[in-house]
Amino acid sequence: MSIAVYPGSFDPVTFGHLDVVERGAKVFDRVIVAVLQNRSKSPLFTIEERVALLKKTTFHLPNVEVDSFNGLLIDYMHSKNAKAIIKGLRAVSDFEYEMQMALINKNLDPSIETFFMMTNTQYSFLSSSIVKEIAKYGAPVGDLVPKVVEEALRLKFQQGE
Ligand code: PNS
Repeated sequence: MSIAVYPGSFDPVTFGHLDVVERGAKVFDRVIVAVLQNRSKSPLFTIEERVALLKKTTFHLPNVEVDSFNGLLIDYMHSKNAKAIIKGLRAVSDFEYEMQMALINKNLDPSIETFFMMTNTQYSFLSSSIVKEIAKYGAPVGDLVPKVVEEALRLKFQQGE
């Protein structure tokens, strides 16, 4: 069985992420969306909130599950017996950083492969940071994130985050 891990911060999940998850789920038997916990940058959503939003928005995909992890991605891969890392690439600007991560991971364990998926051009400008920036000022983000995420952002900024 081919198990792939799609790691990230997902703060919060966007239509760009979901496009990658849906396409990945057609290629691999099982896809684990893994949310990183111990990020130095302080996230807007807690780990529980990010996982819950991902669970709600991937509910329709039977071979997709959502989890969180701490520490090195490679160690997490081993714990799940997963051999493939899925990453989305939006533009050339993503490439250098992603290549560095792929090479570090390859160096740590040569048996694990990173698979890059080109993000749908429709979402090539989209990032969680941009969504947060727009939502913070009360502008609509309904074409960038699912309804539940839009609502969660609204509540977050209402609370004066
Ligand atoms: O959505 P992001 O923030 O671009 O995701 C980055 C992520 C979580 C994939 C990356 O930071 C990661 O894999 N972190 C785990 C720590 C690790 O394994 N570091 C060494 C390889 S870069």
